[in-house]
Amino acid sequence: MYHLKNFLGDKFERVRSIIDNEYSQMNEYVNLIGSANYAFPSVLEAMNTPFNLNPSEGSRGNRYFPLCDGIDSLEAMAEEMLLKLFHCNGYSSNIEAYSGTQANQIVYQAVLKPNDAVVIMAPNAGGHVSHYHYLNTFCNIYTYSVNEMDEIDYEAIEILCKKNHPRLLIAGASSYPRNIDYIKLSEICQKYNTLLLADISHTAIYIVANRHVSPFGYADFVTFTTHKTTRGIRGGIVMCKEEYISKINRATFPIVQGAPKFNEVLAKTIMLAELDLININEYVDRILKISSSFVNIFKEHDLKLYTNGSDSHLILVDLRESSFTGKEAEELLLKQHILVNRNQLPNDRRSANITSGIRIGILTLATLNMPEKEYNQLASLIASTIRQRRIIDCTLACEIIKPYKIIL
Ligand SMILES: Cc1ncc(COP(=O)(O)O)c(C=O)c1O
Repeated sequence: MYHLKNFLGDKFERVRSIIDNEYSQMNEYVNLIGSANYAFPSVLEAMNTPFNLNPSEGSRGNRYFPLCDGIDSLEAMAEEMLLKLFHCNGYSSNIEAYSGTQANQIVYQAVLKPNDAVVIMAPNAGGHVSHYHYLNTFCNIYTYSVNEMDEIDYEAIEILCKKNHPRLLIAGASSYPRNIDYIKLSEICQKYNTLLLADISHTAIYIVANRHVSPFGYADFVTFTTHKTTRGIRGGIVMCKEEYISKINRATFPIVQGAPKFNEVLAKTIMLAELDLININEYVDRILKISSSFVNIFKEHDLKLYTNGSDSHLILVDLRESSFTGKEAEELLLKQHILVNRNQLPNDRRSANITSGIRIGILTLATLNMPEKEYNQLASLIASTIRQRRIIDCTLACEIIKPYKIIL
């Protein structure tokens, strides 16, 4: 067996110490970054297989290199599993996107022209920054936010569509913790001849388990990252109504990307096989139970939450009316071995580097199957830290996470 550490030896001491440090951090910090989750071990193993060897350009069934039957079969199998998982038909897929951002860029490339109007969720309301910053380079973008109840403002979306007749409407967020009504959005899109892209990066598993409204049957395009709720590698998947698949394939290669990374294609297929095997309802129940315990404990400590709660693994503490900032909270929690990230909220008076919000995600705790007593202790520690603006306990989180070393 090949040992990376032996290879690195003394020659690459600096790289070696960075790797060692990374392992220690994994075992000593509770990772509550909103998008963090532990991949299935089988998925990680798939990355280190002969599929890393072959470069082969083209798309499924139309490659420019020999010996691609295996990879084409994997992609066909993955598509079958995707349709089964999401209980849908009439959709095709391309699972080659290197990342979530590229999955979306593939859709943009397939359907948008310079100066087209596009309606997206404002980044400070929860929309992903890449939607905004990439599209801003060649399209006219119009952003929507939330209403006074912190719900997505569907009326404002309709007004934007009526005025600007966008070519594309994007729904799906990285820091909006609520269910999104894709049916309502699709009705708006139909009225104004607008295509609908559902970016379900943070919500794929809830859609599989029928806990969130499904975009399938409504959205023209559905994209998602594979490393969050679905426990895959860091990568993207594009699904589209069948009529768009040749445009999507052409945009994927050779426009947005070069040769597909076949070890990643294998890893995504293995992820789908794992999802076919596990009890997804049980996993989703666990996520939602932990999330609602966090929400309750935060409320008991009188913390204000963006949208006043959560329908997912994400919880956003709202510090807009406080003199305490997201950055300060992040730093205090880090000193107590808890990783979270600062996050802007609607009408935030603070910069993206300081912010008036903290985003907390509890996927890792659900994957570890952490007992209630332990995750409640973590929630109380976070709430007390933010409430009292001081370090409460520097060892608790570290003690809680250390015994889980075994699964990493
Ligand atoms: C909703 C959403 N879309 C896109 C992305 C971008 O994914 P990636 O980091 O793989 O490019 C993210 C990342 O967290 C996301 O939350």
